[in-house]
Amino acid sequence: MAGIGKSLRPDFPILDQKIGGNSLVYLDNAATSQKPRVVIESLANFYSIANSNVHRSVHTLAERATDLYERARERVADFIGASDPSEIIFVRNTTEAINVVAYAFARPRLAPGDEIVVAILNHHSNLVPWQQVAAQTGAKLRAIPLTRGLRLDMRAAASIIGPGTKIVAITHKSNVTGTIVDVAALAHMARQVGAAVVIDAAQSVPHLPVDVSQLDCDFLAFSGHKMAGPMGIGVLYGRRELLEEMPPFMTGGEMVREVELENATWNDVPLKFEAGTPNVAGAVALATAIDYLSAIGMRSIADHEKALAAAAWDRLEEIDGIQCVKPTDGSNGIVSFCMTDVHPHDVATILDSEGVAVRAGHHCAQPLHKALGVPATVRASFYLYNDHDDVERLASALRAARQFFHKRGGSSRNPVSDSTR
Ligand code: ALA
Repeated sequence: MAGIGKSLRPDFPILDQKIGGNSLVYLDNAATSQKPRVVIESLANFYSIANSNVHRSVHTLAERATDLYERARERVADFIGASDPSEIIFVRNTTEAINVVAYAFARPRLAPGDEIVVAILNHHSNLVPWQQVAAQTGAKLRAIPLTRGLRLDMRAAASIIGPGTKIVAITHKSNVTGTIVDVAALAHMARQVGAAVVIDAAQSVPHLPVDVSQLDCDFLAFSGHKMAGPMGIGVLYGRRELLEEMPPFMTGGEMVREVELENATWNDVPLKFEAGTPNVAGAVALATAIDYLSAIGMRSIADHEKALAAAAWDRLEEIDGIQCVKPTDGSNGIVSFCMTDVHPHDVATILDSEGVAVRAGHHCAQPLHKALGVPATVRASFYLYNDHDDVERLASALRAARQFFHKRGGSSRNPVSDSTR
């Protein structure tokens, strides 16, 4: 595919290095992506020519910074199809965004016996806040299982989502299996019973076209650092009327309209949810990352990753002792697997010595791993700068790992009981 894959590597300075004497193959993109030079320069540029606080002072730098910050909000809104920039709240990351919804939207509305519907494949960031809110309100958690083909079980969803459901909080794309959930169908079920739909889009917005109006969700969360942007900047999209009804999540500076000694009134959305000095440089650089990704095209990125993952599965299936965690709907850029008798961390350590960076562990999705019957997996996750040479390097590093542990009779850690990270 022209203009994607290897031809983009020079844009990413970090990729131009050797690890253990081998050129770096970075396949840990689901944990965080690398940053193109334009994004790194955008951060430096903000601090070089525009740094100032926003929405406060009237001097030139303050107006420049405020203008850049608000233009970044417009860029994000446009990128995900939000109808108004005020529906975009800048936060630190997906986890913070979901906590805003859990505490400021859901908690005041939930009563004992109400149901919060999650999915087995949810990342902990879209599960633990709901456990907490359930414990505080007396609401109950219900989980949609997976099919044998590792897809979300939509028949089970239809029976679980019912009159008691108040929140449907689902991960759009699994960070372990790459499974993509039919959010629009779930939203349709939720609408029938008047439940709100909260989507963790941390793994979808960076990798495929996402339009909130087509998904018909009420809230959607994602992180800048997984989409070629900086760490410490994330986004909560919320329907404007819901954001307006909600109390603030954090209080303090900038999110207020009037403050008296004993009480205060709140600023309009989105500022009501942005207490304190925001990560302005991060928001501006996130907009640069969006420009960068958009110039390549989200559909091209999604197709490219899908092709790489399909090629990776073909290679992995040729290697003795690899058990693939492969969904029947294709793998959408993420390839997770186990190696017989070898702990995933040991596999990842050998891969690292070959210059191949992958993640091993439970990937913050322990209930999913429990359902899969393994405590941990090895995960290779692709992005726009990866290509077929990286797939070959992964396969050859895995063959090296297989040989190494075959000679030793497996790894010393117990691959079936030791679950960390
Ligand atoms: N959620 C990130 C991952 O899947 C950190 O690795």
